[in-house]
Amino acid sequence: MPEENFTNTLYTNDNLFILNGLNSDLVDLIYLDPPFNTKRLFSAQIGSKAAGSSFKDMWNWQDVNEEYLNTLAENYPALTDFIASTSVVHSKAMAAYLTYMVQRIVEMHRVLKDTGSLYLHCDPTASHYLKVLLDEIFGKNNFRNEIVWCYRRWTNVSQDFQRMHDTLLRYSKGSNYILNKLSEPTKSSEKRKKKGYYTGHPTIKDGKRMMNLVVYDKLKAQNAVASGKYDNIVYKEETGEVIFPDWWEIPIINSQAKERTGYPTQKPLALLQRIIKASSNEGDIVMDPFCGCATACVAAQQLGRKWIGIDVEKNAVDILIERLSDDAGMFKDFVATKLIPKRTDIQVVQPTQSVKERLYKQQNGKCNGCGNEYLMKDMEIDHIIPKAKGGGDYYENYQLLCGNCNRIKGKNTMEFLRIKIQTRKNLLKEKIIFGE
Ligand SMILES: C[S@@+](CC[C@H](N)C(=O)[O-])C[C@H]1O[C@@H](n2cnc3c(N)ncnc32)[C@H](O)[C@@H]1O
Ligand SMILES: [Zn+2]
Repeated sequence: MPEENFTNTLYTNDNLFILNGLNSDLVDLIYLDPPFNTKRLFSAQIGSKAAGSSFKDMWNWQDVNEEYLNTLAENYPALTDFIASTSVVHSKAMAAYLTYMVQRIVEMHRVLKDTGSLYLHCDPTASHYLKVLLDEIFGKNNFRNEIVWCYRRWTNVSQDFQRMHDTLLRYSKGSNYILNKLSEPTKSSEKRKKKGYYTGHPTIKDGKRMMNLVVYDKLKAQNAVASGKYDNIVYKEETGEVIFPDWWEIPIINSQAKERTGYPTQKPLALLQRIIKASSNEGDIVMDPFCGCATACVAAQQLGRKWIGIDVEKNAVDILIERLSDDAGMFKDFVATKLIPKRTDIQVVQPTQSVKERLYKQQNGKCNGCGNEYLMKDMEIDHIIPKAKGGGDYYENYQLLCGNCNRIKGKNTMEFLRIKIQTRKNLLKEKIIFGE
């Protein structure tokens, strides 16, 4: 069951709720490719595997838990100011988008292990704004790379330079993180390795022309060595492993490619394989909270990692299930669920009378909503994050509210309650001032 280990699970739900229900320090690598705020509606091609799938990339305040800004102001006041200024510098839609992103990134940071890394895939539309959010949440010293993914594609006539890259912002949670060297064998390096040796170009040493031989496999190179033609013989183990530069040339998926599902914005497996190989090891947990047609999950499985995929769109999940089941029959054992997982790293505590007494003391007898003082018998235990949104039965998720506040809050969040209280206060003020 997903509650127990969370991995190799595909969740169909808002990633915020799923993240709320996941343990802290769980995941080794997070790759996210969220909608970019490009103000487009992405739809899959008719007739493709993914036909009927679409997702919105247009933002307005209805999409966002606007009240979250109050909570953000308590924990990250600088980000609240920053988001407010993007509303002026760019647009209200950008501020809405960033509010939507920030509350998810805070949760991603929590579920990441101390040695974990996060790659945020975006493009120049919002990358510079998103970087500010990440700098504040991860710490600016944990910014590791801005990777430019370059590709060629057909574009319309443009008055500007053709836009042919995306950006990957790479952060680590701490200073001790994984970055594996990678080998990217070329055709000629493969050929050389197979042959066992390589006759390097002649070099000049002390005015003398030297014939070189680089040997990778002593047995295979025996004859070449025995020929006595070489002045300079070097034995070398060729791993071909290098640390890549921060720009990557990887082709986008062509229209005939086998891996193409037709899902809008599907990313190439080669890109995800590179990220996963670089920043995780076998057996590690890779998570993609905006997984679309599950490219990251497929790549993780191929590379012997465990994975968690989340997408809110039912269509995305249907095609994803098909893809996972199809792919080389590798994916027999995975769970697909809408259920929100329950954290197991926090002690489950039933809301008993003694919990109530403890909370009453902690809150100095005041309601956490309206702030008024009440007798203990007039207070009720409430889940701060409702269970329907990933909150659980643990002490940290309990608070006392007066009956009235509890009724207003219902199954909503604290932000909802605060806005309602504020609106009431304003109405009351108007009544008093205008005598209505
Ligand atoms: C750019 S696509 C990801 C494409 C993916 N990398 C691939 O290779 O197929 C963004 C995805 O995020 C999903 N999404 C948007 N908001 C979400 C949310 N709150 N929770 C989970 N998924 C969400 C969309 O349904 C869409 O599939
Ligand atoms: Zn109250």
